[in-house]
Amino acid sequence: MILVTGGAGYVGSLLVPELLALGKQVRVVDTLWFENPLPQHPSLELIRGDVRYAQADWLDGVEAIIHLAGLSNDPTADFAPQLNAECNVMATQKLAELATKKAEREAKPIRFIFASSCSVYYTATPEAELNMHGKSEDTPVSPTANYSKTKRLAELDLLRIAEQTPEFCPIILRKGTLFGLSPRMRFDLVINVFTLNAWKNGKLTVYGSGEAWRPLLHIRDAVDAYIYMLSAPLEKVRSEIFNVLHKNYRILELAFWVTEVLEQNRGVSIQVKRDRSVQSGERSYYVLGNKIQRQLGFSPERGAAQAVLEIWDALQAGAFGDDPANDPRFYNIRWFKQELLQLTGVN
Ligand SMILES: NC(=O)c1ccc[n+]([C@@H]2O[C@H](COP(=O)([O-])OP(=O)(O)OC[C@H]3O[C@@H](n4cnc5c(N)ncnc54)[C@H](O)[C@@H]3O)[C@@H](O)[C@H]2O)c1
Repeated sequence: MILVTGGAGYVGSLLVPELLALGKQVRVVDTLWFENPLPQHPSLELIRGDVRYAQADWLDGVEAIIHLAGLSNDPTADFAPQLNAECNVMATQKLAELATKKAEREAKPIRFIFASSCSVYYTATPEAELNMHGKSEDTPVSPTANYSKTKRLAELDLLRIAEQTPEFCPIILRKGTLFGLSPRMRFDLVINVFTLNAWKNGKLTVYGSGEAWRPLLHIRDAVDAYIYMLSAPLEKVRSEIFNVLHKNYRILELAFWVTEVLEQNRGVSIQVKRDRSVQSGERSYYVLGNKIQRQLGFSPERGAAQAVLEIWDALQAGAFGDDPANDPRFYNIRWFKQELLQLTGVN
């Protein structure tokens, strides 16, 4: 049995059906903040629950945990910093402690695959240069933003617990920014939103200089990475951190590239607009992704072209309704602002 927390989210709703297709028993725990896009399946157990109040019996029969639950971007973490700290650090710690007790009791290793983020490499610094040198897993990090800071604190907790308990096997995946179609779609991720804007307005707007670097990863490669870690040799992955990305792009280059893909394959002409008056924050980080290849032979191969076309075609087919750009469900921060009080009791 695999426990997937946050299994109803953007990543989880693509991962869970893959695990089921592989014949796994899956237990999902999710607050269902956004919706429930998961299929009914005899091997799937869905618990509507909050990892902040994790319960020992969620781990009954579980041999591995894929921990995706939490606040999943900067705007939501900044909007609800206390909730962010509770979900991203405290809940991770609580779940890890329950897993540790179970592993000790049964004298059996338990994998704890943690959804971290390449954004831990971003540090606000006036010298943008500092952020342009390639970051590897060995690069010291001290993120300051609410979201990335809590991802790093959770990583440190997991590594500390593993030092004390040999049966506890954390595997930390620092994913790049994702793109691609999912049953629980997000249009607040750069390639997805570029494609939506191209479809809706016939133009893309790049804010700020557009020179920032971003590591990107196809959502299907993220799913493959989680599945890979379920059976990778434990001695090669236990307490290891892996960056997982396809490529680094500059935002402006990416915008032109999305338009080129659409022009060549769908015959549409899309304009790129620049708006330097709005500062985008210029979050810039260039991340090296070769460790996972070198150490495990795993290599995210999928580029953005296919994802852009799939999203375009889904939009054309009406998969996200008539006006997804104005539907808050596709944007975590808009949904939070609208629904958070009702969903979490947080104001
Ligand atoms: N999407 C990306 O580009 C990206 C990149 C790097 C890392 N990550 C990380 O990967 C994970 C999954 O990301 P996503 O894009 O699927 O996010 P998402 O926001 O779509 O999904 C998160 C899911 O977790 C659930 N959840 C949140 N807090 C919970 C709690 N306390 N208890 C139980 N369930 C809870 C939500 O209901 C939601 O279904 C997150 O931890 C995110 O930080 C995402």
